[in-house]
Amino acid sequence: MKFSEKIISWYIINKRDLPWRKTADPYKIWLSEIILQQTRIEQGLKYYLKFIDNYPDINSLAKANEEQILKLWQGLGYYSRARNMHKTARVIVDKYHGNFPDNYSDIINLKGIGDYTVAAIVSFAYNQVYPVIDGNIMRFLSRFHEIKTAVNSAKGKKQLFALASELIDQEQPGEFNQAMMEFGALQCKPHNPDCKKCIFQSECKAYKQGNVSDIPVKIANIKVRKRYFHYFVLIYNGQIYLNKRIKNDIWQNLYDFPHLEANRFYPKSRVIEKFTSQFKISQDQIQILNTSDEYKHILTHQRILARFYVVTFQDQLIFQKIKTLNSNQFICIKKETINKYPLPRLIDKYLTENQNI
Ligand code: ADE
Repeated sequence: MKFSEKIISWYIINKRDLPWRKTADPYKIWLSEIILQQTRIEQGLKYYLKFIDNYPDINSLAKANEEQILKLWQGLGYYSRARNMHKTARVIVDKYHGNFPDNYSDIINLKGIGDYTVAAIVSFAYNQVYPVIDGNIMRFLSRFHEIKTAVNSAKGKKQLFALASELIDQEQPGEFNQAMMEFGALQCKPHNPDCKKCIFQSECKAYKQGNVSDIPVKIANIKVRKRYFHYFVLIYNGQIYLNKRIKNDIWQNLYDFPHLEANRFYPKSRVIEKFTSQFKISQDQIQILNTSDEYKHILTHQRILARFYVVTFQDQLIFQKIKTLNSNQFICIKKETINKYPLPRLIDKYLTENQNI
């Protein structure tokens, strides 16, 4: 039996029942693939269903406002995915009258869509012959062919693309691509794969050489940057300040609290000093009600360490001074409405653990 027939037969028996596998709607396929980047299936599935419910087609996504979309995306991380989807939905409505483009070159030009996503869309929605190569497929193919070149290097990617292009089924490219992903996810697992039960045992070069656990080879990631956030939870009479993150940085267009960033944690006295001088108030005009423990939040290339200072004020005028000094970024809201705003997971976690603030 040909390789492609063999893997498709395996897939028909072993595949998981997932909603985006039962549709040829390019919008739904696009949405599922964007959500599933960097996200586990169980978590991704919940968000996919929520999104389809709220935005069943491109037009409804294009019409939504960004803040609603970010709120729905809250907790998934990598928020540029949501912002880009929104922009792209608007482009599709304006430029393509709301019809998802059906060819590789138009789709690859859309914001937030790279090689992987375009191949997934054109093969799953339109049955066009483009191999997809995700992390699961990289692992499976590099073991199958005992490729020792780093899979995240340009050379390694080229080798894998050539191999996948050779193997792809010309009649059922979409089914083939899904089968490859599923095989990598369920059978050719990262750790302790059950090679004794593998249908490709006799053809797998890494298995023959006994080095399955050494492949795939990867180039180490770039260094992780450590950042220290001293957050100010500024409260007065049931009101609280939020900071809209508008800069070109993590969590763009989400809300956190006013803060001070440094390359280490400052002692409390230094934090108070910095805070009062930044907002031109004196130390006796504020009171620190609580200092939190350290919170850690890990992103791909950054480690955020945060400490939260709950601060209250002598009177309303002092409280208002904070805003006059930073009017374009800070908003003053009623404390109980805070969950209407899109918040990074770190902030959501702090609020969940400190409901009495
Ligand atoms: N991960 C990314 N895309 C996927 C898909 N279409 N099916 C299952 N897992 C996936």
